[in-house]
Amino acid sequence: MDDRILNDAQETGEEMVELSLRPIVLSQYIGQDALKRNLKIFIDAAKMRGEALDHVILHGPPGLGKTTLSNIIAHEMEVNIRTTTGPAIERPGDLAAILSSLEPGDVLFIDEIHRLPRIVEEILYSAMEDFFIDVVIGKGEEARSIRIDLPPFTLVGATTRFGSLSAPLRDRFGVQLRLEYYDIESLETIINRTADIFESNIDSDSAHELARRSRGTPRIANRLLRRVRDFSMVKQEESITLETTNYALNVLEVDSEGLDPVDHKIMKTIIETYGGGPVGLETVAVSIGEEVITLLDVYEPYLIQKGFLERTPRGRKATAKSIDYFSKSFGEQYNEY
Ligand SMILES: Nc1ncnc2c1ncn2[C@@H]1O[C@H](COP(=O)(O)OP(=O)(O)OP(=O)(O)O)[C@@H](O)[C@H]1O
Ligand SMILES: [Mg+2]
Repeated sequence: MDDRILNDAQETGEEMVELSLRPIVLSQYIGQDALKRNLKIFIDAAKMRGEALDHVILHGPPGLGKTTLSNIIAHEMEVNIRTTTGPAIERPGDLAAILSSLEPGDVLFIDEIHRLPRIVEEILYSAMEDFFIDVVIGKGEEARSIRIDLPPFTLVGATTRFGSLSAPLRDRFGVQLRLEYYDIESLETIINRTADIFESNIDSDSAHELARRSRGTPRIANRLLRRVRDFSMVKQEESITLETTNYALNVLEVDSEGLDPVDHKIMKTIIETYGGGPVGLETVAVSIGEEVITLLDVYEPYLIQKGFLERTPRGRKATAKSIDYFSKSFGEQYNEY
């Protein structure tokens, strides 16, 4: 599944490209208007008071711009950012070392914060609430706890799984921001911006088609654009045409709704093998040989948002819309272009 074009996760080697495409200031960050409006108020208010911004949790599916936004927050607050991930902080001492190196007002960004070990998470509570930590030094009889005071700082956490955060951690984030899938217009703007950075031209109907088929996800939009641009270059086009875009997306097995072969396998299993459902997600995962986590984080949210899949107390169900759409495409899956 790692070579899937629609995988929202970052690919190896993609990091450098993404870095060059990352908006730096909030005004360059496209879409997510309600979120941006709120965030701007909190940032402005914190700056007026000369205080650190309240702790922020960013949650939503992969590739929607959580890492980008955390860097923008630090930039707008005019402070440094320290970046780490939940699984990288293995022991309380690791966290203590990071926290005591922060300057007043700094941002500590913890990506995948739901994967923070429990013993580390517990230390974070007092750090977030009262800016101190208790560290235990020595062992057995000799062990004693010392208190380290911390400068006020802002913890920015990112997660694709808000539901797996413990309540005490979740409640300590004063600002909770949920990223939504992007609308087509915002994705078009992102695609045109990326094309500019690449110094490529793209026809407006091509940008629109790419936006439509990018799963509401900037990372996927940028990735599809890069691949489509390759096809266009080989054809020596002055500007990426709709014809080439359609041809390339077809070769890349991205269907007219932006769904890929795994989406098709999921829906085919539910509709044909399980009579449209309800069927448990674990059963579907086993039938198609994917991990439950992948289905939960990557596939299901988009299929639900597109109105193809329904979550019921007894399992997943195909909607009428999906039965109609997929029954047409099974068999002649990708030959309809
Ligand atoms: N609002 C936006 N405007 C312009 N480009 C964006 C926006 N959001 C994301 N991007 C682009 O999408 C790419 C992926 O974004 P980012 O790495 O921030 O996603 P993420 O939510 O952190 O993903 P993950 O959950 O996998 O860590 C970035 O390189 C950036 O170029
Ligand atoms: Mg990220």
